[in-house]
This record gives sequence, structure tokens and C-alpha cells, in this order.
Amino acid sequence: MKCVDDFRLRFGRQELVPIVIGGMGVDISTAELALEVARLGGIGHISDAMVQTVSDRRFDTKFVSEKLKKYKTNAASSDKSNVHFNLAVLEEATRYHVGRTMEAKRGDGMIFINCMEKLTMNAPRETLRMRLSAALDAGIDGITLSAGLHLGSFALIEDHPRFRDARLGIIVSSARALAMFLRKNARLQRLPDYVVVEGPLAGGHLGFGIEDWAKYDLATLVGEVLTYLKAEHLDIPVIAAGGIFTGSDAAAFLELGAAAVQVATRFTVTRECGLPDKVKQEYFKANEHDIEVNTISPTGYPMRMLKGSPGIGAGIRPNCEAYGYLLDAHSRCAYIDAYNREVELHPTAKKVKVMDKTCLCTHMRNFDIWTCGHTAYRLKDTTLRLPDGSYQVLSAAHVFHDYQFSVDQKIALPPGV
Ligand SMILES: Cc1cc2nc3c(=O)[nH]c(=O)nc-3n(C[C@H](O)[C@H](O)[C@H](O)COP(=O)(O)O)c2cc1C
Repeated sequence: MKCVDDFRLRFGRQELVPIVIGGMGVDISTAELALEVARLGGIGHISDAMVQTVSDRRFDTKFVSEKLKKYKTNAASSDKSNVHFNLAVLEEATRYHVGRTMEAKRGDGMIFINCMEKLTMNAPRETLRMRLSAALDAGIDGITLSAGLHLGSFALIEDHPRFRDARLGIIVSSARALAMFLRKNARLQRLPDYVVVEGPLAGGHLGFGIEDWAKYDLATLVGEVLTYLKAEHLDIPVIAAGGIFTGSDAAAFLELGAAAVQVATRFTVTRECGLPDKVKQEYFKANEHDIEVNTISPTGYPMRMLKGSPGIGAGIRPNCEAYGYLLDAHSRCAYIDAYNREVELHPTAKKVKVMDKTCLCTHMRNFDIWTCGHTAYRLKDTTLRLPDGSYQVLSAAHVFHDYQFSVDQKIALPPGV
């Protein structure tokens, strides 16, 4: 029986262990995690979600408090049209986050950045162009386009000197979405270097409808994308993602024709992951019925999370003056509408509850939306229980090697502390 280590992901002459750790915003897939994965010969992701906040946390910059100071007087207004991101600040924060990470990189692996189109930042094109080009300037090995169809994203950076040499890929959930992307970008004569096919069991946002996500299955989707690429005579590595929990699961996708797997949930309980220790314990403790797919994300995409996430139902005042990453081109966010509706319905209440949407920026920033993959309920089987009843947090190297070498659906337990 083959294991993941019997396979390699090839980019030109570069050979990698075919394990990609998916981007987990906001700073859940930390630079530390990505660096460790690169050291081990795989691909690690950082994320550019709320990069100004991440920079403040990592480098003690003051980007968020300066933005808040500038727009503070607008806080009580539901009109956010005068709240803007300063592109120079966005560039600086991206350069810090990416540049410092790349300077620290060791080993044969690579570091990519996850860029979500849904972070529209009330100027979708301008901010996305800046995010992408600043990451390239700062030396990122590759960019994974996610949370959106990204039909115009390649064109935003077609004049960048690294447009043809950096590794650029896209996450899709169907062959149809990939076909659309390729058709839209045909004139650029620049194919993506890889395609991540993400199925319905993944963490974060899902590229399926709330009604029908459970009808899909990753192996079928990967098969459809492979068939489509073969029919089009296109040689683009396909990376399978979502619900791949063991080395054997991963090897099965590689045997099916995937060039690599992208995994995330198992790394949420590693030391290098950015979640606070207390939250890691919540992930370990989760049972299957504690996990749901809901529609509270203002992006409009369904999202999977633990039902106990403190951000569910919290009716905080929208915080766009400090953040505002989900404001669309018309300066609207579905949470602002939901919040205003509740305030109007309960004019005398000191605090309202908003059940149908959440202030995703604030709650992701504070690690209060506990997004996870469907398999999170199995995390407790990957570690040891400590005498105080808590679960032993793992090292990223331990989990990585378990994916790389394990067979027969075995999961290696860590050495005891
Ligand atoms: C905590 C968490 C946060 C995530 N955040 C993002 C994100 O910001 N952008 C994105 O494209 N995917 C995100 N994902 C999806 C992962 O990158 C990955 O593709 C997927 O979760 C893999 O499936 P698995 O978790 O079952 O291994 C997230 C997943 C998790 C578990």
C-alpha cells in the first residue's frame, strides 16, 4: 500500500512533498506554521485576511488604531461610504507580513498566500490589486486565489514582473467554475500553476449552496476536474481539499490522479497554529453534533463552525471604522443591515442579539468564530489526554509526518509529555 511519501508534487524542476496546508484566516495559519511546513518540504500558506491587524499583532505596528482614530466619529452611523482603506498602508502591512515571513524561510518547501476575493474592502479591484502585487513584491512563492470566482484577478497583476514566474493557483468547487476562470483569462496566455478542488467537508467558507452542499463529494469533484482538464489537453496539477483526515485518505487522492492534497483542520490543534490554547481545546472536545454549516457569514457563502462559537448571536456594533474588510463596492455589509434591523425592533434594549449574520471581521480577529472542517470531531483521536483532562496540543511536524508516512488509516499519537 502506498503512502503520501511515495508521491511528489512537481513545479518545473522543483519537487515537493505533496502536502499543502491551506490558508486559514485571520492568522490561524500563522507564519510560524507556514514556515514549519516549508522546512518539512511541503507548502504552507499564510493568509492576507485582515493583514493590517495581523501586522499589528506580529510587528507592533499601529495600523488598526490609526484607521479607527481617523474614522471614529463615523462609528454610530450605518453609512460606511466614507470609510476607506489607505492603499499605501495596505501595501505596507502586506509587505511586512509577507516580507518578514519569506526572510525567515528555510528548507525546500514553499510559502503561498491565500487571497480571498470576498474581502472587498469597499474598493474591490483597487485593494485586491494592491494585496496581490504587494505580496509578489515582498517575495511570496505563490498566491492561492480563494472565496470567489476571481474572473478578473489575473488581469489585475498581468503587468507585474513576477506575473509569469510566481506560482498562481485558484480554489474551485466545480469543473464549471474552473472552466469559467480559464475562459475569462484565455487572452492572458497564462494558465494557473495549480487548481485546488475544495469539497463540501472543508473548513472556512464553502463554495456550495446551504441547501445542497451535502450532496457533493470530493472524490467525484476531483474526478470531474481531472476529466475536464484531460479533455482540454491541459496539464495543471490538481490539489484535493476538504475532509482528508489521514495519510491513507491523502494517498487515495494521489492514486486517483491528484498532484497533492490540501489539509487544514488537523493543523488547528498544533502549537504553531494561531488559535488560542483554550480554543484548541474546544476543537479537540467537539463532537459531530457540535459542528454546523450555517449562513451567518456576511459574505453570502455558507460557513462551517462549532455551534458554541461566541461570535454566533453576538449583537455587537459593526466595527467597520477599525476593520471593514467585508464592505462591498457600495460600502454595504449584510451584518450592518441585520444589526440595524434588530436595533430598530428593540429600541430600548441596551444590547441586541443578531442571529442571522455575524460581524465576521471582529469575531475572526478575536478568534470567536471557531470555523473548522467536518472532521474536527475526530481530532480527539489524534492525541493523548492529559491528567487534568485536557488534550495534548501537537507539533505541526508530528501531524505533517503522520500525513506523509502513515498507512492503513492509522493515526500516529504524539510522544507523551
Ligand atoms: C480554521 C480554518 C480556517 C480557514 N480559513 C480559510 C480561509 O481564510 N481561506 C480559505 O480559502 N480557506 C480557508 N479554510 C479552508 C482550508 O484552507 C482548507 O482548504 C480546508 O479546510 C481543507 O479541509 P480540511 O480542513 O478538512 O483538511 C479554513 C479552514 C479552517 C479549518
